Amino acid sequence: MDRTLPAYIEAKIKQPRSFGAALKMPQFNLTVAQVDGLVTALLAQTDRAANLPERLRIAGPVASKYEPAGAASQLIHDLNCFSCHTFNGRGGDMAPDLTWEGSSVQREWLLAFFKNPNTLRPTLIRRMPKFNVTDQEAATLIDYILTVYQTPKFDRDSMKNTADAADIDHGRQLYYSKYACQACHIVDPKKDKGYIGPTLTHVGSRLNAAWIYQWLKAPQSLRPGTIEPDREMSDGDAASLTAFLMAQKGQEAKLK
Ligand code: HEC
Ligand code: HEC
Repeated sequence: MDRTLPAYIEAKIKQPRSFGAALKMPQFNLTVAQVDGLVTALLAQTDRAANLPERLRIAGPVASKYEPAGAASQLIHDLNCFSCHTFNGRGGDMAPDLTWEGSSVQREWLLAFFKNPNTLRPTLIRRMPKFNVTDQEAATLIDYILTVYQTPKFDRDSMKNTADAADIDHGRQLYYSKYACQACHIVDPKKDKGYIGPTLTHVGSRLNAAWIYQWLKAPQSLRPGTIEPDREMSDGDAASLTAFLMAQKGQEAKLK
């Protein structure tokens, strides 16, 4: 072995036991490229690197120090929303990221969900807790979510939340035939069996039309890493599917 620092680090990572049989460092099965990468990263940990001015450092992912404001901030902290949800890069990943929640959901739905959180995504391990908040507190939180947590990518009120019958019919055909969305979703609980994505029986009472439209056009841009397929859908197909989904208001609404 060369008596140089890089050669020493490399040997230590590749074969920790070569420095003594009783050492505790585990033996990893790393590729040559992985060993190289680790050696380079470790060599960069110098006094000089630690003392470089901010502008010359390479930024790693920084922990977000995001703070909500006002009365809502107090509630978000007191009720521990950060322990499960992420807002603007800060928080947990046990529940949906809420950074853009204000663009996606309708006010009445949000209020009802707060009072009585039902299961939307059967595959999640955690459930949204039912909080004993006053109506005033619920309104404070909801106003804050709807005002502050919006995506800059589009205006949530740019499309009507109602639709024409012809569009709805065309959307239904696209949904069941061309795109076979029922493979992952349920619109009609009597015949659909898609359990991978959330149930869409009430989606027209829950989401804004503009959110659904943008979701169908470019799901990854709204939730990076989502398994919703990006089909590079035409504007027309996305609009018809949006119309069909906005007509799904749930059984209760239909009976009214
Ligand atoms: C113990 C973990 C936990 C805490 C604490 C928590 N939530 Fe949730 N929340 C969840 C989970 C899990 C879901 C997703 C439920 C589902 O999809 O079935 C959820 C869903 C939501 C949704 C609906 C998201 C959507 O898909 O549209 C909103 C809004 C929300 N939470 C707001 C809050 C707020 C505000 C707080 C603090 C007052 C909070 N949550 C605290 C776990 C939590
Ligand atoms: C491969 C399975 C799969 C297919 C096929 C699929 N989806 Fe999804 N869909 C998902 C999953 C998973 C989610 C939840 C995404 C998330 O929260 O990351 C989702 C979410 C949604 C949402 C809700 C988005 C939100 O913000 O809550 C809508 C609306 C939707 N899909 C519509 C459709 C339509 C319309 C089709 C057919 C064109 C379709 N999906 C096909 C898996 C699928």
